[in-house]
Amino acid sequence: MNRILITGGAGFIGSHTASLLLEKGFDLIIVDSFVNSSKLFLEKIFTLFKKIDEKYEERIKFIECDIRNFNKLNNVFQESINEGKPINSVIHFAGLKSVSESVEYPLQYWDANVNGSINLFKVMAIHNCKTIVFSSSATVYGTSDNKLLTEDAEIKPKNPYGESKLIIEKILNSLYISDKENWKIANLRYFNPIGAHESGLIGECPNGVPSNLFPFITQVAIGKRSFLKVYGRDWPTKDGTAIRDYIHVMDLAEGHLSALNYLESQDGIFTNLNLGTSKGTTVLELVRTFEKVNNCKIPFDYVDRRPGDVAISVADNKKAINILNWKPHRNIERMCIDGWFWEKNVNDLKLTFDKF
Ligand code: NAD
Ligand code: WQD
Repeated sequence: MNRILITGGAGFIGSHTASLLLEKGFDLIIVDSFVNSSKLFLEKIFTLFKKIDEKYEERIKFIECDIRNFNKLNNVFQESINEGKPINSVIHFAGLKSVSESVEYPLQYWDANVNGSINLFKVMAIHNCKTIVFSSSATVYGTSDNKLLTEDAEIKPKNPYGESKLIIEKILNSLYISDKENWKIANLRYFNPIGAHESGLIGECPNGVPSNLFPFITQVAIGKRSFLKVYGRDWPTKDGTAIRDYIHVMDLAEGHLSALNYLESQDGIFTNLNLGTSKGTTVLELVRTFEKVNNCKIPFDYVDRRPGDVAISVADNKKAINILNWKPHRNIERMCIDGWFWEKNVNDLKLTFDKF
């Protein structure tokens, strides 16, 4: 069985992907610095798996490590070889992801995202581990019109976060060109991941005031925030609010499993893949769906457009569907139900964050 390294595996998407891979029987090493997560998340994955497989602990190892620490990361690979279980592939989630923070603190973003990734790729190359699934973002695309965004749409990130993702994509592409026989690279551009694991044990846990729409909605629903600000009612859409392509985080996790399987079957490849649903939802539709399926009220006010926002961002996901043998199948209703179930649980969990 392959051993997979998951960087940033304690975070939102990483923890869901790790739980899916564990469920499928993979052997995992998670490295995370906890800059934007908590050990508690890992505990929750463990709780989940005790119920499924008592021996799951033999298949998961966690190491607290910043991916910019060359020696520590190198040791992770070396010790794995010494144990007779070399790391064959990497899913690279670790990085900072706030657009507004990246504008305020650009050096932190270039350092964590770009230098961290270069360090990881160096260590991978040393150990001849050349299979990687990378977390890129739809944020690398330029302004969209009404068309679905294909992988060859205009690339034009608008902030340091998006630019850092684009640079990492370019570095990965240059690695592939340097050794086309051996590097196998799936560059996944996620659209808007929301929702949570259906167990309610893992989900998104943003620090401070959420800047993304969905966690803000769930925090209004639970009473942590009094109302939602809807950014703009004059967008050229059916109800005047902006359209995004929301994808359930477990569908996204399944996309990673499919991408790994796909890379295994290839001789050397670099491929860009959109992970989205190809379905657009307005802000108002998301709010109304959340209220309906969860039988609650989300008070909101319209405010001005948020600088840097676009009217519509929806994936053309045909390429991923065609080549990955993958399809997102959880609808907006499911995303709202699972996200709300998690939010109701997270309050209790947060009380115990102090323990760590
Ligand atoms: P997250 O912040 O929840 O998870 C990232 C994890 O990486 C965290 O656990 C954090 O502690 C860890 N980390 C950060 N810097 C690190 C470092 N230098 N060394 C080790 N660990 C480090 O974010 P997420 O939503 O799970 O996103 C995962 C990846 O997907 C990120 O690279 C993000 O840019 C990308 N992405 C996210 C979204 C989204 O909307 N959530 C959309 C597109 C792309
Ligand atoms: C969605 C819609 C807002 C908050 C961001 C990043 C992108 C990617 C995903 C990482 C927009 C509106 C939001 C609020 C609102 N992340 N909104 N009130 O902007 O599509 O993408 O997250 O890679 O890089 O840019 O997502 O959830 O912030 O916003 O009205 O309080 O909701 O204007 O139309 P976005 P979002």
